[in-house]
Amino acid sequence: MDRHLPSAPKPRMAVLVSGRGSNLQALLDAIARGELAGEIVGVFSDQPECAALQKVAEPLRWGMRIKDAGGREAFDARLADALDACRPDWVVCAGYMRILGAAFVQRFAGRLINIHPSLLPKYKGLHTHQRALDAGDDEHGVSVHWVSAELDSGELIAQRRIPILPGDTPETLAARLLPEEHRLLVEVMQAATSGRLRAPDAVAQA
Ligand code: GRF
Repeated sequence: MDRHLPSAPKPRMAVLVSGRGSNLQALLDAIARGELAGEIVGVFSDQPECAALQKVAEPLRWGMRIKDAGGREAFDARLADALDACRPDWVVCAGYMRILGAAFVQRFAGRLINIHPSLLPKYKGLHTHQRALDAGDDEHGVSVHWVSAELDSGELIAQRRIPILPGDTPETLAARLLPEEHRLLVEVMQAATSGRLRAPDAVAQA
């Protein structure tokens, strides 16, 4: 008698994007290569026309403009409901350019992760490559962290460093950092989807 043992359900990853989606693509590629257990169950954006949404099949896309939702709080609530509907085990902000409100963060606390192109706590917010250059830093890098209600301030999960080279511009620095971002995000999600990453209490009870 051939009994089909139920296979373990795949870890479910939802991804929030706003633009190009190269980090989303890194997750999709890792899944396709069999290097990341899990599935992308939804891609969500505040920019319905962004390129990142085109990287997944139409049923997995959700896009809404904040002004069409009636403001940021209403948008966050609509986004949260849409996210809940795909039952994500993990919610990854990957090139997502909006601040998430406290109510949203609390609703997904413990499974909400962000990737940020700087060595946090340095250079929270935008234009991180320019700011590292302006400061005369000799190294730069990328951080993956738990999301808290304060911008780019949640507890760190992992970082990767790169040197800043003579003659670097924000563009050359961003280009050298991007592959490191992709590798770090895949590594963190490999840990997350294999049960090796658990949110500390302070994060889980945000
Ligand atoms: C990346 O540097 C990411 O770290 C930052 O936005 C940039 C674009 O990300 N949050 P992606 O190519 O849209 O994933």
